[in-house]
Amino acid sequence: MRIGVLGTGVVGQSIAGRLVELGHEVTMGSRQAGNEKAVAWAAEAGDGAGEGSFADAAGFGELVVNATAGGASLEVLEAAGAENLAGKVLIDVANTLDFSQGMPPRLSVSNDDSLAEQIQRAFPEARVVKALNTVTASVMVRPGALGKSSNLFICGDDEGAKAQVSEVLQSFGWSAERVTDIGDISAARGPEMYLPLWLRIYGTLGTAEFNIGVITRQ
Ligand SMILES: NC(=O)c1ccc[n+]([C@@H]2O[C@H](COP(=O)([O-])OP(=O)(O)OC[C@H]3O[C@@H](n4cnc5c(N)ncnc54)[C@H](OP(=O)(O)O)[C@@H]3O)[C@@H](O)[C@H]2O)c1
Repeated sequence: MRIGVLGTGVVGQSIAGRLVELGHEVTMGSRQAGNEKAVAWAAEAGDGAGEGSFADAAGFGELVVNATAGGASLEVLEAAGAENLAGKVLIDVANTLDFSQGMPPRLSVSNDDSLAEQIQRAFPEARVVKALNTVTASVMVRPGALGKSSNLFICGDDEGAKAQVSEVLQSFGWSAERVTDIGDISAARGPEMYLPLWLRIYGTLGTAEFNIGVITRQ
């Protein structure tokens, strides 16, 4: 599949790299085509890897991943172009962490709204699925490295889009029964508001390589 990954940070690089490894063609997008990190990534990732502007990447992808800073994501997607997102599955991995008032970061959207909902409202023709924002980049693409199975939450308004995202996640190593569909796009409030707890667990454990598992009464 052709996939556009918006974002040159550790998340964009991890997801884009894994997708190329799995045989997909990937264009990494940034504000400016020729971005140093994107060029270096594409050179190292080899065949199937390319880079360009946010619009280049979104236009290239049959599926698009938003791996940009949460506070900039709406602006990024505007630059990517509504026409380049229309009808496409858009996986939103971003978190709305606001570091402007110091540590710990605040959430710039919460309670009765979420970034994923804002994106879906701004781009009604995109098929937004929130996924992967609750784990660190390395775990996103290699959950098996944790040694035990854990849960990943997905949500969105489009059932077909969620099924397609679930397949991509399974190709990363997530087991189908641990990819938990928590409902429509408004459910993204939960995984986005999980971040304050994620940060506390991170501080306590001293590692970002962890995840939560949901257990039910047997
Ligand atoms: N780090 C993790 O393990 C982790 C885990 C879960 C979720 N997340 C979330 O995933 C997203 C990506 O995280 P990250 O750590 O890889 O990278 P990041 O530093 O949060 O974001 C990097 C990307 O955001 C773009 N960007 C930043 N400010 C911008 C602005 N003002 N206007 C337009 N674009 C802007 C950058 O564009 P350029 O390429 O042009 O510089 C770059 O592509 C974030 O929302 C983060 O909260 C991260």
